[in-house]
Amino acid sequence: MNQAALHRKLAEGVLKDPKKASPEKLFELRLTTNLGLIKELFDKLYPEELHPKSFEKLIDLLPALFKTRSTELKRQDLLLLKKGDWYQSQKMVGMQLYVDLFNKDLKGVVAKIPYFKKLGINFLHLMPITTRPKGENDGGYAVNSYMAVDKRFGTQKDLLELTKKLRANNIFLMLDFVVNHTSEEYPWAKKALAGSAKYQGYYHMFPDRNIPDAFEAALPEVFPTTSPGNFTYRKEIDRWVMTVFNTYQWDLNYSNPQVFMEMFSNLVAMVNAGVDVVRFDALAFLWKKIGTISQNLPEAHLLIALFRMCLQTIAPGVILLAEAIVAPRDIVKYFGEGDLQGNECEVAYNASLMALLWNSIATKKTLLLYKSLKSIPQKPKETTWINYLRCHDDIGLGFENQHIYEIGWDADMHRRFLLDYYCQVLDWSPAAGFVFMHNPKTGDGRITGSCASLAGLEKALSTKNQIAIQQAINKIIMLHSIILSYGGIPMIYAGDELGTLNDYSYLNDSHKKEDSRWVNRPGHDWNAVKTLSQKEKYPSVIFHTLKSLIGLRKKIRVFADSNNTVLHETNNPHILIYERTGIKDAGILVLCNFDEHPQVIDGSILNQLGYLKNGVLQDMVSSRIISLNSGLVQLDPYQFFWLAQT
Ligand code: GLC
Repeated sequence: MNQAALHRKLAEGVLKDPKKASPEKLFELRLTTNLGLIKELFDKLYPEELHPKSFEKLIDLLPALFKTRSTELKRQDLLLLKKGDWYQSQKMVGMQLYVDLFNKDLKGVVAKIPYFKKLGINFLHLMPITTRPKGENDGGYAVNSYMAVDKRFGTQKDLLELTKKLRANNIFLMLDFVVNHTSEEYPWAKKALAGSAKYQGYYHMFPDRNIPDAFEAALPEVFPTTSPGNFTYRKEIDRWVMTVFNTYQWDLNYSNPQVFMEMFSNLVAMVNAGVDVVRFDALAFLWKKIGTISQNLPEAHLLIALFRMCLQTIAPGVILLAEAIVAPRDIVKYFGEGDLQGNECEVAYNASLMALLWNSIATKKTLLLYKSLKSIPQKPKETTWINYLRCHDDIGLGFENQHIYEIGWDADMHRRFLLDYYCQVLDWSPAAGFVFMHNPKTGDGRITGSCASLAGLEKALSTKNQIAIQQAINKIIMLHSIILSYGGIPMIYAGDELGTLNDYSYLNDSHKKEDSRWVNRPGHDWNAVKTLSQKEKYPSVIFHTLKSLIGLRKKIRVFADSNNTVLHETNNPHILIYERTGIKDAGILVLCNFDEHPQVIDGSILNQLGYLKNGVLQDMVSSRIISLNSGLVQLDPYQFFWLAQT
């Protein structure tokens, strides 16, 4: 049983009538329940002999922080605790957006609540909104503060107003907690630069190259083009600072318990604004060890569980999302393994599915997708995925080489093909993407571009090729139909619901032009929204189709995630079939064709699975009956069905 379920059980009587509960009593109950685990985790990371009195400090800190939470949020926590698995519901549909690019500021987001409702969005991920350095700041992921709202987005009051309005409209909010690093302008960094030994100990700093060189021998480079290496020399203090991401993002030193406690206080301050889901940014990097790649280390998992267990005592309604863009097998570990099962993050990005879908579009085949997805161990039952196609970042090609070889392809050549296909090297490819961070030393590269441009819409529109336009639209819709029906929360990247193309304006900004991820950070196309009633325009087609798929998703109970997604093989390599099985409810079978030609599958497969009745199939999307032809079901290029079990 995970700890959250335990809290629900222990508070059962009170939860029946949350108004009667004393929040303080429940806090004590949660603290007592989690204390053993918290102590164990803390001791492993910060043994008493080396860090005397640290644990006592933490024990004093937790009740003090609980007092800082508002009565309204304490009540909300109990409601969410009672609901338990709210984040696994089929009713959840998310959107990720940059506040300023979407509609100017936080007030602008409030003004667009009707837009979210119209589309069916009830979960928002707002990109970083706190203060950051003026020049380059990695889209706000270089933080000058964990709480102070940057004035371009509004004020603290605007944030509180927004979270209140979102709660009133049953829209959940996710914000980033940039847990791995601060900016070089963060108060701790400034004090470190001014010579404070205490604050220098909050980061990884070295007087010479000995330790940095020892680290570099095993560390990969995250931004090899713009920020090669993992250390930056600061002449003010004659020290090398660990900067795994950009030179202005300083990695925090979590081997210092004071850093954990202060960061935990920052986390509580942030969630106290009314945040439901915390996106733990770059959490795979939290612990560093010479001789390793310093990602996914066991200590990082202990640390995340420690954050999780402490936060649960204070804000049991708040859950954590793992932003771990790592190998498929490593991602599931962020849900917690062994004793920590279900006690790390409740949600994780399904980066594997995302990359595999783009792989299937390029290859027109689903072989690698089956191979990879089938090898991923089952996640704990109280967890879920965020399924997405695009986000503000690049698409990494983190497939397991072994899987690529097993289907008969060469891993390096295959990755080269994908880069060439998406990044405009192959004339015949419809995609208009760009390479992100090509590393000449390793030959690695990642892909960037908007969903629509990668799917071929930009090129098709420029050549006015009607068939290609239609195919691109169909691809965009089919890909979205997958994230809407696969187990987890679908997260639409703002603009993709309108088929927004690449935005090249970043090339005119000296602080952005070296970072091609900006090509997929466009302003929201409110002109397209104004003309949504003109049904024939492509943004309207995409918007209205997604809207109706979202509406349908919410009605289908087996689309709630109870680890009930089952992949079924066919002997057609272009087709993807998975089932959302039900215990009480009838299941749904999803069929997709990744090929540009019509494809067929044998009706007997569907018969065996219980989806063929009287020789016909029932598609929930079109509300049509589908007949077999010579025992075969045909799917047009990029067509998909959501078949009802008969
Ligand atoms: C995460 C963010 C990315 C950022 C990085 C460093 O991966 O998604 O945009 O560059 O963290 O903070």
